[in-house]
Amino acid sequence: MPKFAPFATFQYNLDKACPKTLKKQSPLPCGKSSVDFTRGFNMDVYEAITSRRSITRFKPDPIPKETLEKILNAALWAPSKLDLQNWYFVVLGGKSKKDFSLMLQAEFTRILASAQASPLFKAWATKWFLQALDQAPILVLAFSDRPISEDLDYALSVAAAVQNLMLAAWDEGIGTRWFTSGLQAVKESIYSHLGLKDKELIGLIVMGYPEEIPQPTLRRGGRIEWRIGT
Ligand SMILES: Cc1cc2nc3c(=O)[nH]c(=O)nc-3n(C[C@H](O)[C@H](O)[C@H](O)COP(=O)(O)O)c2cc1C
Repeated sequence: MPKFAPFATFQYNLDKACPKTLKKQSPLPCGKSSVDFTRGFNMDVYEAITSRRSITRFKPDPIPKETLEKILNAALWAPSKLDLQNWYFVVLGGKSKKDFSLMLQAEFTRILASAQASPLFKAWATKWFLQALDQAPILVLAFSDRPISEDLDYALSVAAAVQNLMLAAWDEGIGTRWFTSGLQAVKESIYSHLGLKDKELIGLIVMGYPEEIPQPTLRRGGRIEWRIGT
């Protein structure tokens, strides 16, 4: 995907107030600008958005650390309520991922054993999840460090960061799938396994190079109401 190339051709009228440290972090100049934003930045963001698929089958190939850093950094650039940036990510790979997966599998088995459902349903309910958990070389756990029962926006801010992460990963050729099912039932075990306090689980994202890219799901109609006429 071409990145930021068109910027060179834009005429900027920047004020000089942008702190040097922030300038270094951002790919865009900051300060006042005379850019015609209606032209868009011509980043291929639409392609990333529409081609991204949730991936369940992964290749075992490891993801380079620099690539992971780029992707996680993209997550940190999401908008957040009052700019609180209340997200917290734990990235698991190698032995940490294996230990975590074993713990989760044991917890699911324990919980499902007491659940009222047929053995077939129980096996089906966890199949996808366990397969993805097993195959994906990296797991990312997304938390809020503020209580989501106090303000829904805390969860929404983390969700925005997760979407950034998934799109950035896709741009790097890396598939993701965001899992939540069943996780709330085992969240205390997750906190204790990871030694986390005062964090609330928002989701688990599996990451890896796709073994298979599924067909897109149909996008539902009737979800946008236009009221833009005179
Ligand atoms: C908040 C959230 C929770 C999700 N939880 C699960 C889950 O528990 N298990 C799962 O297989 N997929 C889960 N997904 C992925 C969706 O099933 C997937 O995004 C949807 O089927 C559309 O497919 P696509 O992402 O390829 O467009 C979740 C997605 C979101 C945004």
